[in-house]
Amino acid sequence: MKIGFPKETAAGERRVAMTPEVARRLIGQGWQVLLEEGAGAAAHYPDDSYRDAGVEIVDSATAWGAPLVAKVRRPTMDEIAKLAEGAILIAFLEMCDDDGTLAALAGRKVQMLAMERIPRISRAQSMDALSSQSNIAGYRAVIEAAARYGRFFPLMMTSAGSAKPARVVVLGAGVAGLQAIATARRLGADVYAYDIRPETREQIESLGAKAIELDVGESGTGEGGYAKELSDEAKARQQQALADELAKAHVIVSTAMIPCRPAPVLITEEVVQRMREGSVIVDLAAATGGNCPLTERDAVVEKHGVTLVGHTNFPSLMASDASAFYAGNIRNLLDIMVEQGEGGLALKDLGEDEITAAMRVATGHEEKEGDNA
Ligand code: NAI
Repeated sequence: MKIGFPKETAAGERRVAMTPEVARRLIGQGWQVLLEEGAGAAAHYPDDSYRDAGVEIVDSATAWGAPLVAKVRRPTMDEIAKLAEGAILIAFLEMCDDDGTLAALAGRKVQMLAMERIPRISRAQSMDALSSQSNIAGYRAVIEAAARYGRFFPLMMTSAGSAKPARVVVLGAGVAGLQAIATARRLGADVYAYDIRPETREQIESLGAKAIELDVGESGTGEGGYAKELSDEAKARQQQALADELAKAHVIVSTAMIPCRPAPVLITEEVVQRMREGSVIVDLAAATGGNCPLTERDAVVEKHGVTLVGHTNFPSLMASDASAFYAGNIRNLLDIMVEQGEGGLALKDLGEDEITAAMRVATGHEEKEGDNA
């Protein structure tokens, strides 16, 4: 069973979908692993490290021509044209932000498995790349904030004077938010956190942070553990109730998101004006409009004396570990897609397992069983 890993081509993307260590394990299980030349270079995995693991280094057309292709980011139109008929492509299809890719795919006899569709169930946790990458984003967001904040995070007592701990507020206590809380705590900050889902309170407190509680008049818990969008009245109540807490913060890491919806505005311009000069806001929701309207996507700006960081690809800034975690997710997914047959590994019907069934994106060709076996 052959699998190809092409080089990522999205602007600024440093990750790669396979690492030498994980490839070695796949090869041990009977996979033939092809990697496009130089695909791991930006994540500090040189071609030779893959060769040592038994990977075949190939040109782009050969990697894309494999019956199974896995990558991190959505393919471009040109890349889709390189897929072989009947191929299976595994990637983040970034489906909420469709640019016509899905329509282009519908014209090809290929099967698409979207990584963002992996269900949030216990059995799928080891394949859940949304979580592995959000975890990294939460960590890196705090490191970014600490580096840009001109003061200490921990309490500092020195012979030259002392510094009070930074007051950090984390908005949204999902995967990224919980990691941001843990990281800010490890750096010694006083951490406060808020989420619209009341069940997060215990998780916030178990990490040593204080939960901010507000009454917005309605429940924010939606389906599948995600938040739902609030009514306009509740949004206004939430902004107002949060304002005093946020104005006291020295650092805000905001991660509040709703799948395929614009991010809720939690930090108004008036709040930014009230924050102390030199404060930092890292807005992890920048890709979906930001939790602060002053955030600029993929830019770092200063407004009212406050630095706003709007990077949309924090995992790429930690490309080595982000790639290792992603490759581990891919390997665990591949494990449920194949079985040992007489002649080696054989592909199972992707409609049979609830995980791969949920990941399938309709292209009009996926229902023909056995097409890709
Ligand atoms: P996300 O990235 O979609 O959103 C981040 C956080 O923002 C969420 O906690 C959400 O409640 C919060 N939020 C949304 N609107 C808000 C508002 N107006 N005010 C304040 N906070 C707001 O979420 P993520 O990290 O993808 O997690 C989604 C859910 O999936 C969580 O319940 C998480 O525990 C669950 N999960 C389950 C897994 C499993 O069982 N395999 C694995 C990973 C996550």
